[in-house]
Amino acid sequence: MTAQIIDGLATAKRIKSGIAEHAADMKIRQGGIVPGLAVVLVGDDPASQVYVRNKNRSCEEVGFRSYSHTLPSSTTELDLLGLITELNANPQINGILIQLPLPDHINEHTIINAIDPIKDVDGFHPVNVGRHMTGLMSLTPCTPTGCMILLNEVTQDLGGKKALVVGRSNIVGKPMALMLLQANCTVTIAHSRTQDLAEECRQADILVAALGRPNFIKGEWIKEGALVIDVGINRITDPETGKNKLAGDVEFSAACERAAAITPVPGGVGPMTIACLMQNTLQATMMQNGWGW
Ligand code: GUN
Repeated sequence: MTAQIIDGLATAKRIKSGIAEHAADMKIRQGGIVPGLAVVLVGDDPASQVYVRNKNRSCEEVGFRSYSHTLPSSTTELDLLGLITELNANPQINGILIQLPLPDHINEHTIINAIDPIKDVDGFHPVNVGRHMTGLMSLTPCTPTGCMILLNEVTQDLGGKKALVVGRSNIVGKPMALMLLQANCTVTIAHSRTQDLAEECRQADILVAALGRPNFIKGEWIKEGALVIDVGINRITDPETGKNKLAGDVEFSAACERAAAITPVPGGVGPMTIACLMQNTLQATMMQNGWGW
């Protein structure tokens, strides 16, 4: 079998163009409302800088305002809490994203808890996590939302399928498992203490790899005909060319021999995360302007 390559770039482009139309329409019909997203970066992690730049660029593409706050790594927790209080109170700001990870001296939970849940476009606040878990309307984490959209591009019904999520982070693994459960999959979460990962993979009709280790999931572990979503974005040195490149968590070429469909890295999940961030910012703007939740 040669896998269908799931084109995240094309899907993200389609979603963003729908968002741009909706935003333009909202501006005309709703008294000039323009969604505003504040992106806060603390420190100078190069990968985070790239992500933040891409988020700002996407805001421009869809006609949102973006407000970029770049703070030094010496920023205190109190300073950051002060900025969040301002952003919560500012009616021009509909979405707040604090780029993670934060420096070690800042408690991530304290910061996430300080964001007004209706502006929490990451879907990380406990109010959104709880609402999502219990099936209420909520802002949901962008990366797993993007993965679900990509799965729906290649299959109509996930019901009854065996899904394996490798990774248990709050950002991807846990909400991903919940979304697959809500789509009626039988869900397993694997992690660093899982005893026989290869065997778990061999049984999975749907495999979502979000462990952050390049090429860790071997092609031969993939079940024949499986759908594979690779969330990993790992910077590696290409052994053949000696140049830096991106690699996923799955051995891509070998997995293509067995999977029915697979996302590439780059060009798979990455662009979808940003498209879903734009979607959440639009949703948050609507919720703040009378749509309720
Ligand atoms: N760092 C890596 N992924 C994410 C994400 O989805 N949101 C935020 N805020 N930080 C991240």
